[in-house]
Amino acid sequence: MVRYAIITGAASGIGLATSRKLASLGYGVIMGDISDVVKEKAKSIKEETNNERVIGLHVDVTDWNSCKEFYNEVLSILGIDHVDVLVNNAGIIRDSLFIKMTPEQWDQVIKVHLYGAFNMTKQVVDGMIKNQWGRIINMSSASWKGNIGQANYSAAKAGLIGFTLTLSRELGKYNITVNAIVPGFIDTPMTASVPDKIKKLIMDRIPMGRMGRPEEVANTIAFLASEEASYINGAIIEVTGGLVL
Ligand SMILES: NC(=O)c1ccc[n+]([C@@H]2O[C@H](COP(=O)([O-])OP(=O)(O)OC[C@H]3O[C@@H](n4cnc5c(N)ncnc54)[C@H](O)[C@@H]3O)[C@@H](O)[C@H]2O)c1
Repeated sequence: MVRYAIITGAASGIGLATSRKLASLGYGVIMGDISDVVKEKAKSIKEETNNERVIGLHVDVTDWNSCKEFYNEVLSILGIDHVDVLVNNAGIIRDSLFIKMTPEQWDQVIKVHLYGAFNMTKQVVDGMIKNQWGRIINMSSASWKGNIGQANYSAAKAGLIGFTLTLSRELGKYNITVNAIVPGFIDTPMTASVPDKIKKLIMDRIPMGRMGRPEEVANTIAFLASEEASYINGAIIEVTGGLVL
C-alpha cells in the first residue's frame, strides 16, 4: 500500500529535503509551494528516486481557496480520495525589533504559519478520519520560546505548538497523530539571509558547534510519518543540536 504525503514549502530547504526523503522511501509525494520552482524540483526528485508518484503544484497556504483548489487537484491528478501525511512546513521570516515591526511584517508571518496550517489541515482531516489513519507534522521552531527580533515569528511558532497539542487531543481517537518539530539553526536559504553577527551569536549557543542540515530534519519527519511512530502523539521534537536561544 502506498502512503501519500503533502509537504508545503517544498521548493526549498527542509521541505525539499523532506520531499526527497519520503520519495526515496516510496511515498507518493505532493510538493506544494507558492514558488513555481516546485514543479522543476518535483521532476528532479522523481528522476533521482525513480518514483513515479511525485508531483509539484502551486499553492499559497495563506489563501483558503488556493488550498482547496490544490487539494482537489491532488486528489484528481493522483486518483486518490485522501492523503495520509501532511507536513505543514511552508514558512517565512520578517525579522525586526518589535518597536520597528510593521503591521505588514506581523500579518505576513502570522498568515503563512498559522493560517497556512489551518487552511491545509482542514483540507486533509476529513479524509484521514474516514481512513482512520493519519500523520500531521507541524514545523515550529526553537524561536517559539522567544527570540529577539522575532515577535511575529515566535508568536506564530508558539501558536503552532498550541495548534499541535489541541489537534493531538482531538484527533488521536481516529488514529491520527499530530506532532511538532522544533528545528534549531538549519542551513537553508531562510537562514542564509541572517546577518553574520547574529549567525555567530546563535552558533555560540549550539553545543554541537555547527548548523543542522535540512536532511537531519527530514529524517525526523520521515520517522514521525512512519508506521513505527504509531504511538507518538502530541510530541514536540527538537532537532537543534542542543541549541538554547
Ligand atoms: N532554517 C531554519 O533554521 C529553521 C529553523 C526553525 C524552523 N524552521 C521552519 O522550517 C520551515 C522550512 O524552512 P526553511 O528553512 O526550509 O525555509 P526556506 O525559505 O528554504 O523554504 C520555505 C519555503 O516555503 C515556501 N513558502 C513561503 N510562503 C509560502 C506560502 N504562502 N505558500 C506556500 N509556500 C510558501 C517558500 O517559497 C519556500 O520554498 C519553515 O516553517 C521555517 O519557519 C526553519
